Amino acid sequence: NHSNPCDFVLYGTGGDLARRKLLPSLYQLEKANLLHKETRIVGAARQEMTDEEYVQMAEENIRKFNSDAICEDTLKRLLTRLDYIKIDFKQMDDYKALKPYAESKRTMVCYFATPPSIFGDICNGMHHAGVIDPSLRVVLEKPIGHDLESSKVINDQVAEYFNEDQIYRIDHYLGKETVLNLIALRFANSIFTNNWDHNCIDHVQISVAESVGIEGRWGYFDEAGQMRDMVQNHLLQILTLIAMEPPATLEASSIRNEKVKVLKALRPINSTNVEENTVRGQYVNGFINGKEVPGYLEEPDANTVSQTETFVALKVEIDNWRWAGVPFYLRTGKRLPSKVSEVVIYFKKQPHNLFKDSFPSLPPNKLTIRLQPDEGVEVTVMNKLPGLTGSKGMDLQKTKLNLSFSETFKDERIADAYEKLILDVMLGNQTLFVHRDEVEQAWTWVDGIMDAWRASNEPPAPYQAGTWGPVASIALLAKEGRAWYEGR
Ligand code: BG6
Repeated sequence: NHSNPCDFVLYGTGGDLARRKLLPSLYQLEKANLLHKETRIVGAARQEMTDEEYVQMAEENIRKFNSDAICEDTLKRLLTRLDYIKIDFKQMDDYKALKPYAESKRTMVCYFATPPSIFGDICNGMHHAGVIDPSLRVVLEKPIGHDLESSKVINDQVAEYFNEDQIYRIDHYLGKETVLNLIALRFANSIFTNNWDHNCIDHVQISVAESVGIEGRWGYFDEAGQMRDMVQNHLLQILTLIAMEPPATLEASSIRNEKVKVLKALRPINSTNVEENTVRGQYVNGFINGKEVPGYLEEPDANTVSQTETFVALKVEIDNWRWAGVPFYLRTGKRLPSKVSEVVIYFKKQPHNLFKDSFPSLPPNKLTIRLQPDEGVEVTVMNKLPGLTGSKGMDLQKTKLNLSFSETFKDERIADAYEKLILDVMLGNQTLFVHRDEVEQAWTWVDGIMDAWRASNEPPAPYQAGTWGPVASIALLAKEGRAWYEGR
């Protein structure tokens, strides 16, 4: 499972993503012995820096952002792989510095950890320097555009020089251990495989909550909003993995084709139905863990009139045979009470209740997949309360079958999503990367909602920081006799 020898070129190596996630992930791959001994890591950015200064910068960030105790030998080994080249992304001649790498026998992997507005320049520059060949792979970070049109422009710019099988679009949720486990749970267990449709499932809830606010990214976030930043990619990716038909194999094309079919089957939300199916919110000041936090419009760099949403709740319908009549409720927001991502599958109620005397209404079974934190899988079941007495000798209690990853896999460290994804790019495995068709289909659906919101001219509903979003999001389910599962 060792990766191939690569020249891993990291554009935007001084940026937040590279410092917090990518360099520490490379360190972890080194530690797990998964980097080929000849692999080089080449930082590229606008700043003037010597190789030594780059090594020092990388070391500081790995020490700062790595999640476990540093192994000095590993770190030393990783740092000897590092080179730096200065590339002003618009200066076509600067890219010539890549030539020696292009001439090596190693596979060149170029990671674009830069704003997407620069992707086109980077492609042109590499072409100008003559370093592109069919073995080169490019990795694109989200966001790919802010709507369908702009995403097409970016995808076209990259497609001018690269085939789809050279392009690795990252959605880091697809590298999360527990998100991947959705595929295993669904298709390795007949108990789930055979009960996974409108006959057995009442509805599905997907929540991705964060307690953080905007974290110094107000400018970026205000342009995007929660819909584009989270729903268009992470939540829709989770939804497709839950809803897709069984793929023929685990190959990239099988899985990605099934996901696209789900995206195509999403019932459009537009001006005719936006009000009953969507809620958007914006946080005002409140308390998180007893500490007062400012509202969205009071964050540093904020303007005071923004109508950008920091919370979204949606009722999503999938118009196909399997999911007819089964709503998927999605919610995601900033400054919610805690950081927690969960999928909850509510099964249908029993058609008849034998236990009326002790339990007038039997609660449905519920499968909870805890994506983060406290990763695990939980099934609620009704169980007889042990004892000799009780109503007709039979009292019931709701109980849980609980698989906790940290208890069951005590000796296994849960890898960061980027470790898995970087390794897969090095191995040339595209399964966990997003195909152009998926990006564009997701934008088509999201654009419908964004257009309808814009046309309605309604401001987002305020919610207090530290609460689960605007009251309207509770009503979204309540009007159908349902409720959000209680957040952890
Ligand atoms: C990113 C978003 O893609 O995902 C951020 O841009 C968000 O706004 C982050 O905070 C959440 O990722 P994770 O892995 O911490 O759940």
